[in-house]
Amino acid sequence: MAEKLSPPNPPPSDGVVRIRPFRAEDAPAIAAACRDPQVPRWIPLIPVPYTEVDARRFILLSLQAWNDGSGYEFAIADARTDRYVGSVGIQPGSNPRRHAVGYMVAPEMRGRGIATRGLKLAVRWAFESLAVERLALWTLPGNVASQRVAEKAGFRWEGIVRNWDSGRDGQPMDVVMFSMTPDDLADAIEAAAEETADGDRVGSGATAGAADVASGAAADSTKPRIAPFPRELRATGTRGAAFVDVAAVADLGPGSMRRVTLAGVDLLVASTPDGIVVTDDRCPHMSAPLSIGELRDCVVSCPLHEGRFDLSTGDTVRMPTTGGLDADGNYHSPWSPSGSQPKAEPPSKKLEARRLTRVQRLRYYPARIRGGRLEAQIPFVPE
Ligand code: FES
Repeated sequence: MAEKLSPPNPPPSDGVVRIRPFRAEDAPAIAAACRDPQVPRWIPLIPVPYTEVDARRFILLSLQAWNDGSGYEFAIADARTDRYVGSVGIQPGSNPRRHAVGYMVAPEMRGRGIATRGLKLAVRWAFESLAVERLALWTLPGNVASQRVAEKAGFRWEGIVRNWDSGRDGQPMDVVMFSMTPDDLADAIEAAAEETADGDRVGSGATAGAADVASGAAADSTKPRIAPFPRELRATGTRGAAFVDVAAVADLGPGSMRRVTLAGVDLLVASTPDGIVVTDDRCPHMSAPLSIGELRDCVVSCPLHEGRFDLSTGDTVRMPTTGGLDADGNYHSPWSPSGSQPKAEPPSKKLEARRLTRVQRLRYYPARIRGGRLEAQIPFVPE
C-alpha cells in the first residue's frame, strides 16, 4: 500500500489541461470514451460493453483509492471548461517507491497532445509527492500512438517484456515497457524549459511528434530546430544512449551539410527546410560520403552513381545508375544520365553484385538543441 494523500489542490495545470479527481458528472463522458473500440483493443481488461454504471463504479473506486492510498486516479480536464477529456492514473506497486502509470484520451480529443500533457502533469506530481524512484509504463506492441506519448513525456524505452499481461481471453501478452526515474524527469523538465526559451524542439524519433507542437504556438520557422523523422528509422542502439555534443548550431547554415565523426561513427549533419537531420554519412547504396554530395531542399544527391535520398523520409527518390534492389527488395534496372548511352556489360560477378545490392532506407540519430549546441544520441562502442 502506498501513501494516503489528498488530491493536489489546486489541480496541477499547464494552462491547456488540468488533472483533478473524478466527479460524478464525468460518468457520461467516461462511458462514451470507453465505448470507442480502440479502448478495449489497447486496454484489454476494460468492460465491454462499457456503460454509465461502469463509469460510476470506476469513479467511486477511484475516490476510494485516494482515501486508502491504493491509487491516484485523475481526470484530464480542459483547463478552460473543466470538461473531461481523458484519464491518467498512478497505480502503486508492491514496492512503495516503484509505481506504474496509465492513461487514455477521449477519441474526439486525440491527436492534440492531450495525453502527453496529462501524463507530464501526473508524473511530475507523482515524483514530487510520492518519493517514487521509478514509474513504469507499458503498452501493447501495436499501440504506437501510446508509445509516442510515453517518449514525448520523457519516458525511456526499455524493451519488450514477454508474457507481462493477459488478454481478454486470458492468454499471455507481450508489452513494450517504458520507465521514468527522477533523473529522466529532470531531463524532460530541462528540455521543455529550453524549448520554451529557445523555440527548440527535441527530435523524439517520431514524425507525429509535430502534433505536440501544433497544440501550442506555431513553430517559428526561422529558429533552428530538429527535423522529425519516421520513428521506425531510428538508428540501432540509440534508445537510452546518452546525448553527446555534435556541433555548434550557428555553424549549420540553412542548406549546409557536414561530416562529424564521433567514436568512429561518421555522421552526416544536414540543415534542411524541415530542420536539422543527423544520419550516417554513408550512402545507403555503397557507402559513399553523402556530405560531399548536393543538398536540395530535403533531398541529398550522392557523389557516386547519382542516387538521391530524401532526408525527411529516409526513402530513395532516385535509384543509383547501377540499378539494384530497393529497400522493399524490388529490382530496378541500371540507367544512364540523359545524353549518354547505357553500357552493355557481359554477365560477371560484379554485375551480379550490383544487381543484388539493396539500397536501404536512411537511419537517424535522435537529436536535440541545448544552449546553442546540437546534441545527438550516439551508441558508443566500448574501446
Ligand atoms: S554510393 Fe551512393 S549512389 Fe552509389
